[in-house]
Amino acid sequence: MLEQLSVLSPDPILGLAAECRADPNPNKIDLTVGIYMDEAGVCPVFQAVRQAQEQLVADEITKAYLPAAGDAAYLSAMKSLVFGEVLAGDGANITAIQTPGGCGALRIASEVLAAAAPDATVWISNPTWPVHIPLMGSVGLKFKTYRYYDPVSHGVDFDGMASDLKGAKKGDVVLLHGCCHNPSGADLTLEQWGHIADMALTQGFTVLVDLAYQGMGTDLEADVAGLRLLANRLGELIVAASCSKNLGLYRERTGVALFFGRNAQVAEATHSHGLGAARRVYSMPPAHGALLAGRVLSDPTLRASWELELQEICARMIDLRTQLSAKLSEKTNQDFSFISKEKGMFSFLGLSVEQARGLRKERGLYMLDSSRINVAALNQQNMDIVIDAVASVL
Ligand code: LMR
Repeated sequence: MLEQLSVLSPDPILGLAAECRADPNPNKIDLTVGIYMDEAGVCPVFQAVRQAQEQLVADEITKAYLPAAGDAAYLSAMKSLVFGEVLAGDGANITAIQTPGGCGALRIASEVLAAAAPDATVWISNPTWPVHIPLMGSVGLKFKTYRYYDPVSHGVDFDGMASDLKGAKKGDVVLLHGCCHNPSGADLTLEQWGHIADMALTQGFTVLVDLAYQGMGTDLEADVAGLRLLANRLGELIVAASCSKNLGLYRERTGVALFFGRNAQVAEATHSHGLGAARRVYSMPPAHGALLAGRVLSDPTLRASWELELQEICARMIDLRTQLSAKLSEKTNQDFSFISKEKGMFSFLGLSVEQARGLRKERGLYMLDSSRINVAALNQQNMDIVIDAVASVL
């Protein structure tokens, strides 16, 4: 039977990272996958996570399954991290399912959405993270795109976005990136989030927020101001959150699907569908990352240490953006100031596919074909090399 299979094209992100790993060029530079790297080129373990891990290893007495919904302390901490003051009251309208990473959260959210509205069309930004369509499409959801990034202005084409989203109707889902838009780094203003809320109220569509970078754009609060505004005004919101980047738990696959519903009855029904979906797909979530995140978020000392380290990381990424945009503008006589205005890990350099591929082949500089780079993989050793390489093709 298996001989019927043909070889699939590699994943547009992970495939390139694998190609880079296999490249014998000693001067290669990997700006592909969104992983935060420190000045030494290492993806660090947060101090607070390290300490929580020592405690966990000392305290852990069992490896029995977690409940299917996940670890209660983790779920409660994630609800308040994401929704904050919107949680006022007993929070009985919010239900949460711990998932294997943000991808797992998107999958559980998709399963619940497909159960609630089997004919739903999901509206996704153009461009978006390339995995959104295959991941959410695997439960049978259909897609339409809305204009988002304007490569000429290097910013959000909000008029185009609002005009396209006029087609989103009751029973449709609009997928928004909570902050640090992947792949462009171009984010909505709070006023624009407000405009989307107006549209959702008038047209009746549901919003799903992919929240993979809370705390990596501006700070833990500002990065969720838009989604909290929606939760407040709409009374219904779905969030797929990840702890990969902001807690550095990439390989521990730690995420959560959060369903902000109108009341406790809705939450109960939603929860049962989330649990059913989890059981069908992977049964119980992995424990280690969530147990660490739960400790870090709920222990005041660990939490303070984590918040400080996260602020430092965020500040360093902003500094890398400032340096890159200034140096690249100077070197090329072109305006790259947009890089310093964007948020999070990613920016498009505005190169053609041929230029991006040429840099890979000739210089060992790996970026996505779309010229998306992971700004968080730059450092003082590789910054000028990257700038020289990019300038050479402009
Ligand atoms: C990325 O976009 O590089 C990250 O979100 C990692 C991934 O899984 O693609």
